[in-house]
Amino acid sequence: MEVVMLESPARVADVAAGIVARALRTLPEPTIGLATGSSPLATYQELIETHRRGDLSFSGATAVMLDEYVGLPADHPESYRMVIRRELVDHVDLPLDRLHSPEVHDDDIAAECARYDRLVTGLAVDVQLLGVGSDGHIGFNEPSSSLASRTRIKTLTEETRADNARFFDAGEDVPRHVVTQGLGTISDARHLVMIATGSSKAHPIAAAVEGPLSAMCPASILQLHPHVTVLVDEDAGADLQLADYYRQTYRHKPPWQPL
Ligand code: GLP
Repeated sequence: MEVVMLESPARVADVAAGIVARALRTLPEPTIGLATGSSPLATYQELIETHRRGDLSFSGATAVMLDEYVGLPADHPESYRMVIRRELVDHVDLPLDRLHSPEVHDDDIAAECARYDRLVTGLAVDVQLLGVGSDGHIGFNEPSSSLASRTRIKTLTEETRADNARFFDAGEDVPRHVVTQGLGTISDARHLVMIATGSSKAHPIAAAVEGPLSAMCPASILQLHPHVTVLVDEDAGADLQLADYYRQTYRHKPPWQPL
């Protein structure tokens, strides 16, 4: 795992966008895993601007989403598919039929979960962007999720519902149920890139990176993956015991060793 502490949220977005851009430019048929939440928004903005300058194309790419709320109409502005279209996909040249998300409007959600899991695994995600919830969740894998879990329906904790209430008119409107890629599914991606900025992420980042591997902190599954980059600003990295080591490591990173 490589932890990179950067001086500002803008630098975090810059480095994260650089990782995605490299995959888009160098791989013949790249698959990018997209996350929702506010953490990757500046990264998406950076990717959009690079595309608008004519320096980046998504035309050969496929994108897969981590999760989706259950119970919202498909065109609800806070459904994650609509969010990711609004924040990224509608501003770049990714064909819409190559944006994949769980189809939660089917009657048989269990069958849909199995289909989506097979789809994600078959596509083989090259770079998966991740945020982290205040309780350490990734995707919507809440604490106590199996570290080997696959795509399935989950019930949100009240903490997560309260965190996400800011996107809805009333707290009661936040759905209780979601479909999320499992921790095992997410771990199948070749490169996991976690993005976290601001002091509210200091605790979950420290728990994920330096705490025990535990279902109580689902993001700690990153410790088992062979290629993880954790991008944090100074505030989100504030509780890391080895902060000085991470700063030194990045400062002296050999030019031949990419992220
Ligand atoms: C949601 C998403 C996660 C995201 C988390 C943190 O619960 N399902 O993918 O990482 O929120 O969101 P934010 O980045 O807004 O703090």
